[in-house]
Amino acid sequence: MQPNATAVAQQAHRYRDIDVLPFGAALGAEVRCGDLRRASAAQIAQIRQAWLDHLVLVFRGQTLSDPELLALARHFGELDDTARPQPTDQPGQDLQTRALTIVSNVIENGKPIGALSNVDLVWHTDMSYIEVPPDASILYAVEVPAAGGETGFCNMYRALETLPREMRTRLQGATIKHDATHNSGGFLRKGFDPPADVTRSPGPSHPAIRTHPETGCDALFLGRRPYSYVQGLPVPESEALLEQLWSHAAKPDLAWYHKWRAGDVVMWDNRCTMHRRNAFDNNARRIMHRTQIKGTRPYAAVNAGRAQVHPRGLTN
Ligand code: SIN
Repeated sequence: MQPNATAVAQQAHRYRDIDVLPFGAALGAEVRCGDLRRASAAQIAQIRQAWLDHLVLVFRGQTLSDPELLALARHFGELDDTARPQPTDQPGQDLQTRALTIVSNVIENGKPIGALSNVDLVWHTDMSYIEVPPDASILYAVEVPAAGGETGFCNMYRALETLPREMRTRLQGATIKHDATHNSGGFLRKGFDPPADVTRSPGPSHPAIRTHPETGCDALFLGRRPYSYVQGLPVPESEALLEQLWSHAAKPDLAWYHKWRAGDVVMWDNRCTMHRRNAFDNNARRIMHRTQIKGTRPYAAVNAGRAQVHPRGLTN
């Protein structure tokens, strides 16, 4: 999708040292600021503002070594070294850095070099299966397939704003248990059994509506659909409510898809978006390096339910 010229003009005053070109979609903008390795302090501050404003940022044509990717991430907070996306059959994590995850379908010497293979990944919030999920994720494309493997993002501010009023009222004070046993590719995580009963299965409970700690705006927080559970409800009622919420949040008009080129860096706000990935041909190579910024506070402590609306929560 091409950047929207009117929106560019409207935002120009906000960003003096970078160009921010919003996509004419529910979220996302391309940022043009030259080589990210040489970004000035002023540019980093404006990138941070653009990230809060547009939820997902795309930087094209970058060349980053792993230490440079981690150095970029450090500008935005403390690195998260707790990511463990590998299921038993995909032991590909770079244990030297721990803060770097390789997401790839490539097999070398009979072993996957990274996680999540070539499969479709369901909508999810990164690591919502821990008490304090990361604030941000940064994904750098090293090799990409000619077709497929697009990453979709959806705007959870807008998902909340467009919910029917009675549903929103019903969610005030509600908490949802986020499943810890499976990753977004549907693979069982190491050390877990498949849940027999969602009311007892492992995973933290987070508020269904949370207030973003930096923007002060409310967003819907769903995590992952499989094995989730609305605390306190009989399972059939929880399932019915989750079905309604997910069919709303997964609507195409809340989403935007990124078609990758090698050298792209995409940075998203994990507190107000979800993402998913299209499957791709397993004969093609896709290698992405990912790092994450540690969450700053548990969502349960956030004063969810305030009335502020993020500008991106409003429909175009
Ligand atoms: C992820 O969910 O972090 C990976 C997304 C992707 O491979 O595009």
